[in-house]
Amino acid sequence: MNNTYAFFPFLLFLPFLAFCDDLQVFIVYFGEHTGDKAFHEIEDFHHSYLLSVKESDEDARSSLLYSYKHSINGFAAMLTPDEASKLSKLDEVISVIRSNPRKYSLQTTRSWDFLGLEEGDADWHLKHHQLGDGLLQRAKYGREVIVGILDSGVWPESKCFSDEGMGSIPKSWKGVCQSGQDFNSSHCNRKLIGARYYLQGYEQRYGPLNTTLDSKSPRDLDGHGTHTASTVGGRSIPKVSALGGFGRGTVSGGAPLIHLAIYKVCWAIPGQSKVNGNTCFEEDMLAAFDDAIADGVHIISVSIGTQFPIPYAEDGIALGALHAAKKNIVVACAAGNFGPTPSTLSNPAPWIITVGASSLDRRFVSPVILGNGERIEGETVTPHNMRRYYPLVHAGDVVTAEVPKTAIAGQCLPGSLSPEKVKGKIVLCFRGNGTRMAKGMEAKRAGAAGFILGNSPANGAEIPVDAHVLPATAISSASAQKILQYINSTSNPTAALVPAKTRLHAVPAPLMASFTSKGPNVIDPNILKPDITAPGLNILAAWSRADSPSKLESDHRVVAYNFESGTSMACPHVAAVSALLRAIHPNWSSAAIRSALITTANPMNNIGLPITDAAGNKETPFAFGSGHLSPQKSADPGLLYDASYTDYTMYLCGMGIKDPDKKFKCPRKAVTGYKLNYPSLQVSGLNNSVSVKRTVTNVGRSYGTYFSYVSPPRGYSVKIRPSVLFFDQLGQKKSFTIKIKPKGRILRNTSEYYFGWYSWSDGIHIVRSPMAISPA
Ligand SMILES: *[C@@H]1O[C@H](CO)[C@@H](O)[C@H](O)[C@H]1NC(C)=O
Ligand SMILES: *[C@@H]1O[C@H](CO)[C@@H](O)[C@H](O)[C@H]1NC(C)=O
Ligand SMILES: *[C@@H]1O[C@H](CO)[C@@H](O)[C@H](O)[C@H]1NC(C)=O
Ligand SMILES: *[C@@H]1O[C@H](CO)[C@@H](O)[C@H](O)[C@H]1NC(C)=O
Ligand SMILES: *[C@@H]1O[C@H](CO)[C@@H](O)[C@H](O)[C@H]1NC(C)=O
Ligand SMILES: *[C@@H]1O[C@H](CO)[C@@H](O)[C@H](O)[C@H]1NC(C)=O
Ligand SMILES: *[C@@H]1O[C@H](CO)[C@@H](O)[C@H](O)[C@H]1NC(C)=O
Repeated sequence: MNNTYAFFPFLLFLPFLAFCDDLQVFIVYFGEHTGDKAFHEIEDFHHSYLLSVKESDEDARSSLLYSYKHSINGFAAMLTPDEASKLSKLDEVISVIRSNPRKYSLQTTRSWDFLGLEEGDADWHLKHHQLGDGLLQRAKYGREVIVGILDSGVWPESKCFSDEGMGSIPKSWKGVCQSGQDFNSSHCNRKLIGARYYLQGYEQRYGPLNTTLDSKSPRDLDGHGTHTASTVGGRSIPKVSALGGFGRGTVSGGAPLIHLAIYKVCWAIPGQSKVNGNTCFEEDMLAAFDDAIADGVHIISVSIGTQFPIPYAEDGIALGALHAAKKNIVVACAAGNFGPTPSTLSNPAPWIITVGASSLDRRFVSPVILGNGERIEGETVTPHNMRRYYPLVHAGDVVTAEVPKTAIAGQCLPGSLSPEKVKGKIVLCFRGNGTRMAKGMEAKRAGAAGFILGNSPANGAEIPVDAHVLPATAISSASAQKILQYINSTSNPTAALVPAKTRLHAVPAPLMASFTSKGPNVIDPNILKPDITAPGLNILAAWSRADSPSKLESDHRVVAYNFESGTSMACPHVAAVSALLRAIHPNWSSAAIRSALITTANPMNNIGLPITDAAGNKETPFAFGSGHLSPQKSADPGLLYDASYTDYTMYLCGMGIKDPDKKFKCPRKAVTGYKLNYPSLQVSGLNNSVSVKRTVTNVGRSYGTYFSYVSPPRGYSVKIRPSVLFFDQLGQKKSFTIKIKPKGRILRNTSEYYFGWYSWSDGIHIVRSPMAISPA
């Protein structure tokens, strides 16, 4: 963002125009509130700092956006870089953050089945691990647990948010149902127990909200927030036939009886296309975190990320999540959608569960039959009944006279197709610039009978499905090349599209999504991230009736459910399972819940081979963390790697950040990331050898003998001492050391990471930790 916004309210008070141009939103962060202060005392305290840099009292007051008063001690205000720098030099100020606009990580019937959560389902997790002990029943479907969602709001009329038959609102709940445009207290119920919205930061930049563009209330006009909320905790809705029958079955949130608290922090931006998703501002999110923590949520789900990782002290999500961790609130965040490029991962703080995205074992099979009889595999969720051959053309050959015949010509960009050459035909378009659904729209505009969406080489074999506006199917890059050859080989090419059939138990699955952001973690290369992968490709969940499934202006369809892909869709799966774990183990810390999820995750696919991408390339923990979410097993992990808030503050000292608690001085010896008692291990720049201590807590059976197993990274020796741990009571802690040493004269590439794992097993539980080492 540049700094040339207009801030009309402040023009009046400021002496120089140039000065005014410099005003930006900054967050001044003091850490924790100490002692028992009344809200007005806190406001006065914050005001005194503003007054110390501003010209007048009035100036100070009008520049304040938020005074954070519950657990987060800080304020957001309009400051010049100069003023910000003055404040940052004060001893009691931990950091001064220049607010960055955040983008969604945008880019279910089947997902819970696939995760082994559906009762009585002969699904692979149950089959292979015999742990079908009814996690949902043990957790009472999440009853009594409250999950907060920071997103674009909610469509409260969706059946997914009905409170029929639900228990009363937990007594611990302190939140509110904030009224606003098209939203009042009657929209909250025992399912949607709270709803708030935050737009001070937004309005500072864009002026008063245009209430046609977005609703000045917790109401979701976008769909994203409704989708993520219903994925975490939507009610079970049987026989949903979204978009004409695809993904038919029961749509359900992972924890269908939890209570939801909605915090709307992301808004539509004037003049920007809806397809780019909404934007969320740091100061608004921090206010939402502060309220959510005070309201009494147990879990927070944040499907929001940035393209580039941000250091903790400048990252509103990391700071909000740190305060949540202090109250033992679990925070799950999307890893981001900027893969497959390495080092793109966002939300890497060790007190957050960072979630990558992968596919389900469900396909929507809809092949193309070419005139020569050849069958090309395709997938679609577009209902159609096209049962004959049509002439087939490549979009690049049927453009209007004005469009030059470059690679772009085949991409069906708006206005590029010539209706005379396309009418009544099936047109093959390529992905690239423009959205997938907009290409379908263009094919329809030109009068096409059908539409084949071919992946570009960069998209490979991964197929996202969409509900297009005309009969359509989507195919891999290799298949698209085959069709091009066929078109080239005959004077009269034809094709037929076969209506889709839903196929379950497809193999191999999961496949890592190409868009999932990847490690290594650039904020701290000694913390392995992401932590885990969960379903995030072609996920069906509830949708806002104010937005069409394609998000295009020209699309006037209204749907109750929609397919979406993104780490945004994966994150709520992990939040839901965290809610179930919280219900089963109410006194586990947030670190314990994260540990249980990580050490039980599965690095293998459903045919017992290591997880790959859609093209079959082997993936690493930098894509999937410890592996694929395994809900059943996570409820009974055997051992836990616990950590406390104090551990995090010691760790922050090591990162050169002042202790937000101010209760103790930073230790003399820095706590490097790998020394945190984390359930995975990453050491970067290893010279000679390193010994890392870890402590595990027994939560399996009172008596247990655990044996260690190691699969060392190539070129390293890894020794665990002691190699056997005995436990004779629950809650008992035992420590061990992991010694890692480079082996002999093996050539190691200093810009590469080498992966391995270690585990503990008592014959019943397997407590597995991935490991990544890079040489100095
Ligand atoms: C809330 O709004 C609905 C219409 O959306 C209206 O029927 C209802 O009376 C309102 N309730 C209150 C308490 O204002
Ligand atoms: C508000 O948004 C609508 C829809 O995008 C637009 O038509 C209208 O001109 C906008 N109003 C203002 C005052 O900008
Ligand atoms: C998208 O368009 C830009 C500008 O026309 C071009 O440089 C770029 O190569 C295009 N990308 C793809 C994937 O076609
Ligand atoms: C189509 O045929 C021409 C001439 O036979 C050849 O040069 C070209 O590479 C072919 N294109 C494809 C996509 O096969
Ligand atoms: C959790 O509660 C159980 C039973 O109340 C107790 O045995 C256990 O020690 C507690 N664990 C922790 C970590 O406080
Ligand atoms: C490796 O050696 C370099 C230079 O001596 C040092 O800066 C770095 O901290 C060492 N790394 C580890 C992991 O010990
Ligand atoms: C080292 O690894 C980097 C990154 O994977 C790669 O680009 C480079 O070619 C490798 N160098 C050698 C000597 O193998």
